[in-house]
Amino acid sequence: MSATTSTDDLQVVHRSDPVEDRAAAFADRLLAGGLAALEMTTVELGRRLDLYSPLRGRALRAPELAARRQVAPRYAREWLEQQAVADVLVCDDQDLPADQRRYRLEEPVARCLLDPEDPSYVAAFAAFPVLCATQLPALLEAFRSGGGVPYSAYGLHDAQGAQNRPVFANELEGWIEAVDGLTARLLHPGAHVAEVGCGVGWAAIRLAELFPELRVDGFDLDAASVREARRHAKARGVQGRVRFAEADVTDPDLDAGPYDLVLAVEMVHDLAAPVEALAAMGRLAGEDGTVLVVDERVAESFAAPGDDLERVFYAFSVLHCLPVGLSEPGSEGTGTVMRPAVLRSYAERAGFRDVQEVALGSDLFRGYLLLD
Ligand SMILES: C[S@@+](CC[C@H](N)C(=O)[O-])C[C@H]1O[C@@H](n2cnc3c(N)ncnc32)[C@H](O)[C@@H]1O
Repeated sequence: MSATTSTDDLQVVHRSDPVEDRAAAFADRLLAGGLAALEMTTVELGRRLDLYSPLRGRALRAPELAARRQVAPRYAREWLEQQAVADVLVCDDQDLPADQRRYRLEEPVARCLLDPEDPSYVAAFAAFPVLCATQLPALLEAFRSGGGVPYSAYGLHDAQGAQNRPVFANELEGWIEAVDGLTARLLHPGAHVAEVGCGVGWAAIRLAELFPELRVDGFDLDAASVREARRHAKARGVQGRVRFAEADVTDPDLDAGPYDLVLAVEMVHDLAAPVEALAAMGRLAGEDGTVLVVDERVAESFAAPGDDLERVFYAFSVLHCLPVGLSEPGSEGTGTVMRPAVLRSYAERAGFRDVQEVALGSDLFRGYLLLD
């Protein structure tokens, strides 16, 4: 490419230099990424201090927001100004003195930030960079030693649950329908489901809400997740049919089942021992239960550069899932980017005859039926 500039009696030809162009484009990208990271941190600050909800449906001045949320007025003012400049909030009367300006949250943005079951809800995503950054010293050590960082160290179980909650609220019913005969089976009186690696419980709870007679057992290794899951089940009024237990699904003494459905969402890639976990899922499903693994919608094979989704998965893998998997000795070391072929090989080693992909219709997840 070249650009030509004419002057009265001189023509200057600017030839672009691919090396300089690449440097400039990459510098722009890093700057934009750094800005996004900084702004997402201010969103997380707002989320944790619950600064957004008072601004929904009403405009407030900085001292008013400060009083409602018991934060220091000077900080409230700076945060409001920053959020408006970042085009998160709207400031209607910008020319007034600082403390007289009013700020509000527009409804479409409020849905993304405040409605945990809205399909547009993405606020929890802002938490992940912050939570991963808390483990930077441990990550540095893990990279050098080959060790790992346990799931519990990140304290991201709430963000993890919040991230998937709108997916479960809006898609889980369709996932069940995508498996032949499963809806009818779960509607049957006495039907029983196990969810392994259930986290804070939103999938298990959603299943119980979809199928009024269903009983669901959720198992998770993480004590904090199980505590939250029980709290959520109680708040949703399904605690009589949804039970949560702190348990390692690979524990050979886990005595439960058989279940009509054994479900694992976004957890197999985190496991140190995925083959043992899949074998355990097979045992829990007994003779004729369904084993459904839902995991990341990664590409079939490595290709660089990748699309945004593949980039998200790899970033999570480096900062979280691989270190979590490697935090136990003898780990398979899978990471977030578990290719379909890798899951197939785990299933085969776990004794399954075949793996069938299920069309979940999800932007984020692939579904795998494990057949014995
Ligand atoms: C990425 S989280 C997914 C949680 C939940 N399924 C969701 O979609 O939000 C993975 C979960 O698997 C759990 N987990 C990891 N290893 C496990 C094991 N061996 N037995 C039971 N749960 C396990 C973790 O504690 C964590 O809650």
